[in-house]
Amino acid sequence: MRRMRAGRLGFLSLFPALPLLGLVAMCYVLPAPPKTQKLPPFPLSLFAQATPDDYVDEKSCIRCHAKSHNTFVRSPHAPFVNDTRDPIDKHGCQSCHGPGRPHIAHLKNRAELYNYVISYTRATPIQGAMACLRCHADTMTLAHWRRTGHAHADVGCNACHQIHQDLEDTDKSAQHSKASTQFPRARVFVAAAEPRKLLKADEATLCGQCHPREVNEFRQNFHHPVPEGRMVCSDCHEIHPRHETERQEAAQPRFGRSQLDRIHLRGASDMCVTCHPETAGPFVFEHDPVTGLSGDGCLECHRPHGSHNPRLLTLFSRGACNQCHTDKANNHFPGRTCWQTGCHVGVHGSNTDRFLLQR
Ligand code: HEC
Ligand code: HEC
Ligand code: HEC
Ligand code: HEC
Ligand code: HEC
Ligand code: HEC
Ligand code: HEC
Ligand code: HEC
Ligand code: HEC
Repeated sequence: MRRMRAGRLGFLSLFPALPLLGLVAMCYVLPAPPKTQKLPPFPLSLFAQATPDDYVDEKSCIRCHAKSHNTFVRSPHAPFVNDTRDPIDKHGCQSCHGPGRPHIAHLKNRAELYNYVISYTRATPIQGAMACLRCHADTMTLAHWRRTGHAHADVGCNACHQIHQDLEDTDKSAQHSKASTQFPRARVFVAAAEPRKLLKADEATLCGQCHPREVNEFRQNFHHPVPEGRMVCSDCHEIHPRHETERQEAAQPRFGRSQLDRIHLRGASDMCVTCHPETAGPFVFEHDPVTGLSGDGCLECHRPHGSHNPRLLTLFSRGACNQCHTDKANNHFPGRTCWQTGCHVGVHGSNTDRFLLQR
């Protein structure tokens, strides 16, 4: 009986008392805000929990990690975290490895040790990414990163980037991560562009570690000039999807989602056209496959990396056209290339001729 009445009336009769209840609740809660705040996941929790006192003088790290210190000060990344005007959690070693005091306090307990320091070799790739992206939200956000094929495949930031400068050449016993010691020194293409942006190697060598098939496509007779050092993989592949590509994508949704994902949020034709604008028109007489309104656009006829056929074509000579124009395969000027002088020289489109006989 009592319970029933409370059930029916209790709810309504509480209304006038709500503000009061709220106040009582606040008084109860306010003295201990950290307990009610939801902590972000590790490793961000280390920074969220830290008080200014938890950040120690960097010199104390040197005491136990002299080699890592030396490899870091030589790193091109060092100047970026040098500015003493930066907030304390974005300064020096601790900006990447977390506040020092909890780490030093938990040294004895081997089981707990790695809950109090960020080790990029032991943390999961996504944890490592979270730590780097505290400062690199301009390059991409965690949400962007999570959508990439690399994040799905557990390829973390330090699979490609090397923060501590490798001392292998000068000091054989140098202490550094396994990944860096195992990295082969031999370049895939002798003339390939130099490594930059703290990458572990030039892009052809680095990416070729995991994508040998694609890198080998550049050995074919006709290829984009990656081996010659005039281009790098990331000229076409957006490794770090950025905000502006999303906007472009919304404005020009040329490809289905899956196609975009494969080349990291950049429609293939849109990307090709940034370097080959003359092929895209608009033309008075468009050639349907080039416009890319249906199908794969440029990739209907061209291979992106390399090909046995001139002009990176998917098939040799007439074969490229016969994929679609099957009716012209046998008796339409047999034996000749479709785009030789006098024929369809305007393969990408024409401003003067409906049959693409002129450009
Ligand atoms: C009193 C000695 C001592 C001090 C001071 C110290 N550490 Fe450590 N640190 C250790 C020990 C011991 C380990 C366990 C791993 C090992 O044996 O190398 C460790 C582990 C680490 C790791 C993980 C290494 C890995 O396996 O990837 C990092 C990163 C690290 N410390 C950074 C720091 C930073 C940054 C500071 C300064 C704020 C610091 N340490 C201060 C002793 C120390
Ligand atoms: C910009 C981020 C960043 C900063 C700043 C940084 N490190 Fe590191 N540290 C890393 C990464 C990433 C690794 C993993 C190995 C690598 O990529 O070289 C690492 C590895 C380590 C290791 C483990 C080495 C091993 O053998 O596995 C130690 C110890 C360490 N760092 C200490 C330091 C100290 C001391 C400083 C300051 C002088 C510092 N780090 C500054 C990112 C950083
Ligand atoms: C405390 C902030 C901070 C953290 C943490 C941090 N970085 Fe940086 N990093 C910077 C700044 C600042 C720059 C220079 C400006 C820029 O490129 O955004 C930079 C530059 C870079 C560059 C470009 C270097 C170049 O040659 O232009 C790379 C690559 C990079 N960081 C990778 C990493 C990785 C990987 C991690 C995690 C292990 C990391 N950073 C963690 C602040 C940080
Ligand atoms: C440590 C290994 C590793 C390295 C280094 C690496 N990748 Fe990957 N990459 C992968 C894995 C694993 C996948 C996912 C499986 C797959 O699609 O083959 C992937 C997927 C891709 C994809 C397909 C994307 C998708 O969404 O499916 C492209 C494009 C790519 N990588 C380009 C590159 C480029 C360019 C580089 C060099 C800057 C590079 N990768 C370096 C391992 C790596
Ligand atoms: C598959 C290899 C690969 C992985 C994994 C990777 N990067 Fe990169 N990163 C590159 C390449 C290649 C470049 C140079 C081309 C470019 O700017 O896109 C680069 C450039 C950068 C730059 C410089 C950007 C600029 O505009 O100058 C930053 C910062 C950076 N990466 C941070 C990160 C962070 C943080 C992660 C992890 C969340 C990460 N990278 C993971 C390959 C990689
Ligand atoms: C001229 C632009 C361009 C360059 C340069 C380039 N790629 Fe690609 N790559 C593409 C396009 C376009 C695709 C999509 C192909 C398709 O869908 O058939 C692709 C696909 C890929 C894939 C995914 C293959 C699959 O089956 O999903 C990988 C991996 C890849 N490229 C790696 C690389 C590597 C490594 C380099 C540098 C050595 C590189 N690419 C240079 C344009 C390029
Ligand atoms: C970053 C700029 C860039 C991008 C993006 C790019 N290319 Fe290229 N492309 C080049 C360069 C440079 C050459 C070599 C031109 C030379 O050797 O004079 C080339 C050559 C070619 C050739 C051969 C031309 C010839 O004369 O034999 C074709 C075909 C081609 N690209 C198609 C594509 C397609 C299709 C895409 C998109 C998948 C693409 N390109 C994306 C820069 C680019
Ligand atoms: C219907 C098939 C087809 C499509 C689709 C196509 N191309 Fe071509 N492309 C060709 C043929 C055939 C040639 C050779 C023309 C020649 O040698 O005169 C060629 C030549 C080229 C060349 C060499 C320079 C030139 O203009 O002769 C470039 C660069 C090129 N294409 C880029 C692209 C780009 C970028 C796209 C997507 C916007 C694209 N192509 C779409 C068939 C195609
Ligand atoms: C991926 C399919 C595809 C490929 C490959 C292709 N075409 Fe086409 N082409 C079309 C379509 C679709 C049309 C529009 C058909 C229509 O309007 O009847 C067209 C129209 C044309 C026209 C205009 C004819 C007309 O009746 O309007 C010519 C000329 C032409 N293509 C030549 C070529 C040549 C030359 C090649 C080889 C370099 C080629 N095509 C490769 C799909 C393709």
